[in-house]
Amino acid sequence: MRISKAVFPAAGLGTRFLPATKAQPKEMLPLVDKPLIQYVIEEAVGAGIRNITIVTGRGKNAIEDHFDVSYELERVLEERGKENLLNEVRLISNMINVSYVRQKEALGLGHAIWVARDAIGNDPFAVLLGDDIIHSQVPCMRQMIDVFEKLQGSVIATCEVPHSEIHHYGVIAGTPVEGFGGRVYRVQDVVEKPPAEEAPSNLAIIGRYILTPQIFGFLEKTRTGSGGEIQLTDGIRLLLEQQPVYAYMFEGRRYDAGDKLGFLKATVEFALRRDDLGAEFRTYLKSLKL
Ligand code: G1P
Repeated sequence: MRISKAVFPAAGLGTRFLPATKAQPKEMLPLVDKPLIQYVIEEAVGAGIRNITIVTGRGKNAIEDHFDVSYELERVLEERGKENLLNEVRLISNMINVSYVRQKEALGLGHAIWVARDAIGNDPFAVLLGDDIIHSQVPCMRQMIDVFEKLQGSVIATCEVPHSEIHHYGVIAGTPVEGFGGRVYRVQDVVEKPPAEEAPSNLAIIGRYILTPQIFGFLEKTRTGSGGEIQLTDGIRLLLEQQPVYAYMFEGRRYDAGDKLGFLKATVEFALRRDDLGAEFRTYLKSLKL
C-alpha cells in the first residue's frame, strides 16, 4: 500500500494570531518569505505525496490562489526577465494535484478530517497540520511512511515535551516496538489535552499522521470532546481498539508555528539557515545588546 494522498486541514479561525489573521488565513503567514502551508506541502511532496486535499472554510481563498496559476504575475516576471522568480512561482502551482473541500462549521480537527472522506476513499492517507513545521534531513512524513511500510498500521508522529506543556497536546501511552532503536511505540491509549497530572506520558502527538481509512467510520461516531470539538485523538482512540496504531519519534526539529513565540523562533532559525540571508542576519543578531 502506497501513501499517495494527504489531507491538510486549514479551516481554523486562527484566533491565536489575531489581528494578523482577521482577513488572512494563518496558513499564509510567512516564515521568512514562504507561507507556512508551503513548508508543509513541500514536506508531503518530499515524501512522494502529490494528491493533497485541503480542508478550507470561509476566508481561505488566498490558499487556493497560492496553489493556482497566476497568469498576470507570470507574464510580468517573464517581461522583466526575472527567471528565478518565475520558475519559483510556476513550481508552486505545478507541485501538487490539489482539491478543496469545505468544512462549513468549525467543529474540530476530527470533523475536518471526516469532511475529506470522499476525496480520500479507501486508502491509507497522511494528515499534516500546518501549525507544526518540522525541519529535518529526511522529511518527517517520509520517515513515517518508512515505518508504515514496515508495520502496515496507522502511525502518529510524537516527541517528548516538558511536563509543564503537555496539557496543550494529545498524549500517547505506549510500549516500545523492537527493531526501531526506541523510536516506535505501539499505542495503548491516547488522550486529548489532559491536565498534566493525568497525562499518561510526556509523549505529545505532533501534527503528522498516517491513518487507515477505517478512521472515517470512527470519526463519524466520535462525540464532542476536549474544547467542545470533535477531536481526531478521540477517533484514533476508537481506531486503536480495532487495529494496531503506532507512534513514531521522528528525527528533526519541530516548531510550534501556531504559537507566537514558536513562530518567532522558527522565523529566526529558518532565516539563519538561508544561504542568501543567514550570514548577515547572524551578524545583526550578534550586534544586539541582549
Ligand atoms: C492538535 C491535536 C493534538 C496535537 C496537536 C499538535 O491540537 O488535536 O492532539 O497534539 O494538534 O500540534 P491543536 O494544537 O490543533 O489544538
